Amino acid sequence: MSSRARSLTSVARLGLAIATRRKLPFSMGFILTNRCNFQCSYCNIPAQVSDELSEVEFRTAIDELAALGMSRAGFSGGEVTISPDCESLLRHARGLGLFTSMNTNAWLSDAQIDALIPHLDMVVTSLDGPEDVHDGVRRRAGSFRRVMGALERFAGSGVAIATITTLGPWNLDWIEWVLEQAARVGFFAYFQPACNDAFHRDAGLHPALDTATLDSIAARLEAARSRGAPLGSSPGYLERLTRAPTFSDCGTCNAGRYFGTVLPDGRVVPCHLTSDGSYLNGRQVGFARAFLDMPHPASGPGCSVTPLVESDLIFGLDPRAIRAASRQLRSARRRGARLARRPFA
Ligand SMILES: C[S@@+](CC[C@H](N)C(=O)[O-])C[C@H]1O[C@@H](n2cnc3c(N)ncnc32)[C@H](O)[C@@H]1O
Ligand code: SF4
Repeated sequence: MSSRARSLTSVARLGLAIATRRKLPFSMGFILTNRCNFQCSYCNIPAQVSDELSEVEFRTAIDELAALGMSRAGFSGGEVTISPDCESLLRHARGLGLFTSMNTNAWLSDAQIDALIPHLDMVVTSLDGPEDVHDGVRRRAGSFRRVMGALERFAGSGVAIATITTLGPWNLDWIEWVLEQAARVGFFAYFQPACNDAFHRDAGLHPALDTATLDSIAARLEAARSRGAPLGSSPGYLERLTRAPTFSDCGTCNAGRYFGTVLPDGRVVPCHLTSDGSYLNGRQVGFARAFLDMPHPASGPGCSVTPLVESDLIFGLDPRAIRAASRQLRSARRRGARLARRPFA
């Protein structure tokens, strides 16, 4: 089947699942490890030590979820690229015809990037501001240079690229600067507020991010969009930001219905923010069953984590979120086609 036919089939299957209110693991995140080669100032993920599935077990998870209708597999961490299984799992997922993506801090050599490119449809890196801000908050000299180098290299390969800027008092003055880099290099920039705990949705946001500050961030980003800046965050995302601390309702969220997360230890959860609940482990019951029988949170304040909110909006059929995501993929495809036409690229 051609990739276009495959993607039409999977969208039709998703449409049917939504219409009949049936669960479907259309887009799944695989957290290969919580471990990380960085210790960013606002991130508590590496501190969450966890058992980890083997490569064979992750392959089984991918195979079982693909058989159930998964179309999109995203790989993340911690830092996914420190897992020795990262490249082979990406290759495996792409070999099954899945759309693949990876979130990374981009502490990568050119050789590592070149080895990953053939297996990736999209890459998302963190970009927290200009050199001193980025290196400061990421507590790693040289990390800004590596991110910018990686973005240029991925951009030159035709892989779709996006960044996430985690906002706190350290970089509120640099939002427009990030968008200027996005326009120059050719990526879409997403912004999200720093939260106090990546694993607990009730822990709230960084104390500097009060409601007036969030309103002003949302207004600045909407203004940038209307000037034509390559902003990834959709209008629905920015609207939710202005509703903090109750962004939406976990009870109606599509996490656990059309998208979900396989944690490093094999538990299948709606998202990492709700992962303190009691969930099935795919190692014990199989990953298809762990997804289908996953309990759904009855209520909760929602969240402001970019991939989760944008996915919730897309699967909730928010036309602006769907348009924003399709625009980004079209732009990456156009860039890929342009590169393929260059005789000596
Ligand atoms: C968990 S990281 C994993 C990927 C990779 N290690 C990286 O740094 O890009 C994914 C995104 O979450 C962001 N993040 C980490 N801790 C956060 C927090 N407490 N609040 C909001 N975003 C956070 C990171 O900045 C990054 O953009
Ligand atoms: S934000 Fe990413 S790079 Fe930084 S410590 Fe967390 S997982 Fe590691």
